[in-house]
Amino acid sequence: MADGPLVLGIETSCDETGVGLVRGGTLLFDAIASSVDEHARFGGVVPEVASRAHLEAMVPTIERACTEAGVALRDVDAVAVTSGPGLAGALMVGVASAKALALALGVPLHGVNHLASHVAVDIVEHGPLPEPTLALLVSGGHSSLLLVPDVTHDVRSLGSTIDDAAGEAFDKVARVLGLPFPGGPHIDRAARDGEVVIDFPRGLTTGRDLERHRFDFSFSGLKTAVSRWVQARQSAGEPVPVADVAASFQEAVTDVLTRKALDACRANGVGHLQVGGGVAANSRLRAMARERCDAAGVELRVPRPGLCTDNGAMVAALGAQMVIKGRPASDLAIPADSSMPVTEVSARRPTAGPG
Ligand code: KG4
Ligand code: ZN
Repeated sequence: MADGPLVLGIETSCDETGVGLVRGGTLLFDAIASSVDEHARFGGVVPEVASRAHLEAMVPTIERACTEAGVALRDVDAVAVTSGPGLAGALMVGVASAKALALALGVPLHGVNHLASHVAVDIVEHGPLPEPTLALLVSGGHSSLLLVPDVTHDVRSLGSTIDDAAGEAFDKVARVLGLPFPGGPHIDRAARDGEVVIDFPRGLTTGRDLERHRFDFSFSGLKTAVSRWVQARQSAGEPVPVADVAASFQEAVTDVLTRKALDACRANGVGHLQVGGGVAANSRLRAMARERCDAAGVELRVPRPGLCTDNGAMVAALGAQMVIKGRPASDLAIPADSSMPVTEVSARRPTAGPG
């Protein structure tokens, strides 16, 4: 039987309504309702559709999480919620629900950062995070290298993307290749039947670019290169070798991500690399990170794919750490902060009003 505080975590930053229950460092249940199918025909997440879907899914998902975990709401010790970053309207549904629950149950509220939650989720998979940890966070909206001395209050940004996020690049390239949205899993699958035969560019990895942006990423040039390559084939009336393009593109992305992550480990003298976010579900990224970490003597931690993509367990996992470490709870008046900086692990107070 797990012990520690029982924390309910709510995640609604994008198109997944996630409700997780964590006790201490143990995941009890992770319930997810996704509106991804409703967005597919638009080729991207439609914010209004996502907000409406969160509203409809929230109560049933909370009920399902409690039933499956075998806990009653009155036993919950704290409520955690993603307060940012993400889609404003979508975040608002989660934040309002969490406030209502915390108020009704008379328990503390912890508004936490979505990105720090992607890092903290590995605690329920592989135990306490080594301190400091170097984190590579790659999702649909972010690509960041973070130095994490303490995931509950000290997260430092070493670098991030200067244009497209890694997941965004996967989604856009999938579109060019005629694969469905979200593209990451489809490229991953297609690439398994392909070979790395095209040498696509690796942004910010050489010369002055590397000097100025050692820990930053750029995937926009790569996306354009793939697009041009495919167009050239099409205008010559030749078939597009989708699997080979997918494999070559994926290789370029994972090469840059792992190279820079290991360089950041070396530069900061950190022997642990944590990979998180939706793109961490990518099979080639997982394999390449494993090979390169082994070669460099760095300990790699990557949660199972289902915990890499957005979920409520990650929020509950970070919330539980906040409670365990005695971090102050959030004010009930905290806003949903769509552009919450990665360095701000938790939302404490409401933002000052005008004047
Ligand atoms: O973390 P996440 O679920 O949501 C955000 O916070 O953005 O990440 C979603 C992103 C999407 O761009 C999706 O295409 C990508 O993660 N993704 C993948 C894979 N699974 C999801 N990218 C590459 N390979 C995958 N297997
Ligand atoms: Zn995410």
